[in-house]
Amino acid sequence: MKSVDDFRLKFGDKELVPIVIGGMGVDISTAELALEAARLGGVGHISDAMVNTVADRRFNAKFVKDKLKQYKFNVANSDKSVVRFDLDQLAEATRMHVGRTMEAKRGDGLIFVNCMEKLTMNSPRETLRVRMQGALDAGADGITLAAGLHLGSFALIEDHRRFRDAKLGIIVSSLRALQLFLRKTARCGRLPDYVVVEGPLAGGHLGFGMDWAEYDLATIFAEIHRHLQAEQLDIPLIPAGGIFTGSDAVSFLEQGAAAVQVATRFTVSRECGLPEDVKQRYFEASEEQIEVNQISPTGYPMRMLSNSPAIGDGIRPNCEAYGYLLDSTGNCSYINAYNREVAANPGVKRISVRDKTCLCTQMRNFDCWTCGHYTYRLKDTSRRLPDGSYQLLNAEHIFRDYQFSTDGKILAPE
Ligand SMILES: Cc1cc2nc3c(=O)[nH]c(=O)nc-3n(C[C@H](O)[C@H](O)[C@H](O)COP(=O)(O)O)c2cc1C
Repeated sequence: MKSVDDFRLKFGDKELVPIVIGGMGVDISTAELALEAARLGGVGHISDAMVNTVADRRFNAKFVKDKLKQYKFNVANSDKSVVRFDLDQLAEATRMHVGRTMEAKRGDGLIFVNCMEKLTMNSPRETLRVRMQGALDAGADGITLAAGLHLGSFALIEDHRRFRDAKLGIIVSSLRALQLFLRKTARCGRLPDYVVVEGPLAGGHLGFGMDWAEYDLATIFAEIHRHLQAEQLDIPLIPAGGIFTGSDAVSFLEQGAAAVQVATRFTVSRECGLPEDVKQRYFEASEEQIEVNQISPTGYPMRMLSNSPAIGDGIRPNCEAYGYLLDSTGNCSYINAYNREVAANPGVKRISVRDKTCLCTQMRNFDCWTCGHYTYRLKDTSRRLPDGSYQLLNAEHIFRDYQFSTDGKILAPE
């Protein structure tokens, strides 16, 4: 019986343990978690979502405070079009977050930066270019382009000196999305170095509509695999979403996957950025509590625990401090939903907004508990302590369990 360790992810001459820990914003996949993946010979991700906030928290910087100070005059104004990111500050925050992580890297593995196109930041092209260039400047081993179509993203960095040496990958949820991307980027003369095929059971935003349950990862993976073979395109494919045990991973590796990308199991690791009490909510979750809803202003369905404090919260939009989801005209669908509720409830102090959430504020405060479909199985990966809580796991324990387990088994912690 094979284990994941019988396989290797190959990038040229480099051989890695074929386990990729997926990016989890905002700072849920911390530098500590990514560093563990790299130390153990796999691939880890940090995320550049809300990087100014993350840099403030990690390095005691003042990026958010400075931005809020600059735009304080606009806080009560529902028109947020004036609120812009200072591109130099954005570049600096990115270089700090990515650079310090890369400096701390030990071992043979790699660390990639998860970069979401849907963080449009009131200036989509310019801010994305700065984020990607900043990540390359700071020595990131690679960039995984996520959440969005990214049709022009390669072109944004094609003049960078590391454009051909850094690993560049893309996350897709259908063959069609991959074909579109390949067609658009052919002009740059560079294929992606890997393609993550994300199915409907993943955490975070989904690349599907609300009919996500009608799709399944194995089918989409097989379709894309066949297509690449037919086109003689040798691009490593990395399935993601619902791969919960080493045996689940082996079954994909045997069907031609180059590696697997996993995330949910690591949300209850010590190294994960969620606060400890939130990790306990993930352990306790029942299947009925895992929901896919449309409260994210990005327009993508998102999976989360139904007891997330973010759901129904009606906080005033915080775009002067954050503003990561403002589109190119300075709008965000939460602002509209919030204003509608304020107008409908005159004099009410704490309004509730049910159809959208202020994702920046809620993710920043770890109050939007986004999670993978199998979060309800996390309780089977640990054990209960005398006080009733669940024992947190070391990332190394989870990583090694994926790497060496067979027979669908999950190793309990010592
Ligand atoms: C808590 C959480 C947050 C996530 N955030 C992001 C994100 O910011 N960007 C992204 O591309 N994928 C995100 N994902 C998706 C993962 O990177 C990964 O592809 C997927 O969850 C793997 O499936 P699994 O969780 O069933 O192992 C997130 C997943 C989780 C569980």
